Amino acid sequence: MIEYDTLNKIALDIKNCQLCLLCSNRKNTVPGEGGFRKKLMIIGEAPGYHEDQSGRPFIGTAGKILRNALLKNNIQFDDVFITNIIKCRPPNNRQPRINEKKICMQYLERQILLLQPKIICLLGNVVSSYILDIKSITNERGSILHKNDLKYFVTYHPAATIYNRNLLNTFEQDIKKLAEYISQN
Ligand code: URA
Repeated sequence: MIEYDTLNKIALDIKNCQLCLLCSNRKNTVPGEGGFRKKLMIIGEAPGYHEDQSGRPFIGTAGKILRNALLKNNIQFDDVFITNIIKCRPPNNRQPRINEKKICMQYLERQILLLQPKIICLLGNVVSSYILDIKSITNERGSILHKNDLKYFVTYHPAATIYNRNLLNTFEQDIKKLAEYISQN
């Protein structure tokens, strides 16, 4: 009998994962969540404190900024699947290490294969440089990029906009562009 992959199976494999040292300090794994009505997937960097406590992605300050920007364009949080490149919190919110990203990519790849998003939005330099191999998002943000038959849209990480009004404006304009793309395609 063919065994189909499901989001629940992936989440269970993540929950049981001990492939890198991040498993030793986690309270919860954060596999990602949301609906998929808009066929949009949003990928952040890594769970922070609140995400680790709850097992849910983007529920802190950065999440609020992201949620507001989406809502302004009529996209509810549960219209989109939101996840991170790595599924466990790095100690003291340090950046994920290269081996952690390499190991954890298998789960993201399964999520992408299963959901077949119309477009994938990458938040910030860490994620964009790892997935698309771009040096800096400054020149690439706000446009549709193609790799391996998938479409990507790159913008700033909402956390980078917390103390920077200009970045926040640009981030919100990018999310507006993304919403327009989704409604037209
Ligand atoms: N920042 C991220 O990149 N991901 C989260 O889930 C929360 C904050």
